[in-house]
Amino acid sequence: MYLSQLFLNNFRNYSEEYLQFNPNLNLIIGDNAQGKTNLLEAIYLLGTGNSHRTNVNSELVNWEENGFYLKGELIKETQNYKLEIKMQGRSKEIRVNNNKLEKNSDLLGYLNIIIFSPEDLELVKGSPSRRRKFLNLELSQIQPYYKHTLKEYDQVVKQRNQLLKKIRDANAPQEMLEVWDQQLVDLGTKVIVKRLEALEKLKVLARLMQRKLTNGAESLKLQYDSKLNIDGDSSKEEIKTEFSSYIQRKRKKEIERGVTTVGPHRDDISLVVNDVDVRKYGSQGQQRTTALALKLSELEFMKSEIGEYPVLLLDDVFSELDNKRSNYLLETIKNKIQTFITNTNLKRLKELRQNHNIYRIKKGSVTEVN
Ligand SMILES: Nc1ncnc2c1ncn2[C@@H]1O[C@H](COP(=O)(O)OP(=O)(O)OP(=O)(O)O)[C@@H](O)[C@H]1O
Ligand SMILES: [Mg+2]
Repeated sequence: MYLSQLFLNNFRNYSEEYLQFNPNLNLIIGDNAQGKTNLLEAIYLLGTGNSHRTNVNSELVNWEENGFYLKGELIKETQNYKLEIKMQGRSKEIRVNNNKLEKNSDLLGYLNIIIFSPEDLELVKGSPSRRRKFLNLELSQIQPYYKHTLKEYDQVVKQRNQLLKKIRDANAPQEMLEVWDQQLVDLGTKVIVKRLEALEKLKVLARLMQRKLTNGAESLKLQYDSKLNIDGDSSKEEIKTEFSSYIQRKRKKEIERGVTTVGPHRDDISLVVNDVDVRKYGSQGQQRTTALALKLSELEFMKSEIGEYPVLLLDDVFSELDNKRSNYLLETIKNKIQTFITNTNLKRLKELRQNHNIYRIKKGSVTEVN
């Protein structure tokens, strides 16, 4: 799949721009603070309905205006799509082929996006929530069912927590927990099963990527990291039983604390390189390689699940990667994945022997150069 055109109106520091993209490689070159990341953000928004760097929609609107409009033309193997996002005042409206979506999250699944930016180092060394988000976004883009289940599960956790607090304060009887326990375990197990399935595949891909990136020196092991005693071989029934008995055992503690202490909302992915936990003890270089290996395996995983490669956004990554890793990255995407690369100059990108377009950005104004 690829984005063939993009129209931006009053988005961030852009007033009006119409761009046509290369199905292969698009190089976005400009000094700092000119609008390179803003452009990737617009593309990301057309894929996911949200920004990758803010939850505050109003920040996306040009400071001198009251709303923005984005339109993209998406070319997929079987069909083309017109994607539109319009923000006016506080309301955001999303359309696919002129039809207004009921829920903004229904946009997921048309334009699949993977973004890699310097902040992705946090994927490895940041809190478990970063790695959960990685899995959640990945799975939500390919399985609407996962996204809905996760949403329901989060809702159940919230309500169950409220009830735990009420029981603690003697405002509700303990028996009321039963129905919430049941839902927690049912929905939570569904989420875990999907994550385990995905990890079984990602695991193999990521190990291969890490080996290639390090000439065989580093071996990466991914594992689902949960308080529950489960792994990729556990059956759905086994997970359910384990989950149920865990919350039974922790009953007293959970009531005392007023929170649900176990389940997919607390789980993590463990990342071990040559027997060392890279999340905590990896060198900066190892953490960088691991983040890259995860992202590249995400690409292959999506391809295997949906039959097409997603669109790849690489924000400023060449300043963070050494030559070897940059070259490997470029080799991997070569002529098969539509990629947008931002950089302040063309230096390291010059030797690209790939079909590409170059855009120069200055103060929110884009010029295509040949
Ligand atoms: N809502 C907005 N309205 C107008 N201008 C904005 C808005 N939000 C951000 N900007 C401006 O956009 C510019 C930042 O753009 P962007 O983050 O895309 O820079 P960049 O080209 O990626 O720079 P760098 O190389 O430093 O990452 C800043 O000058 C910022 O002031
Ligand atoms: Mg930037």
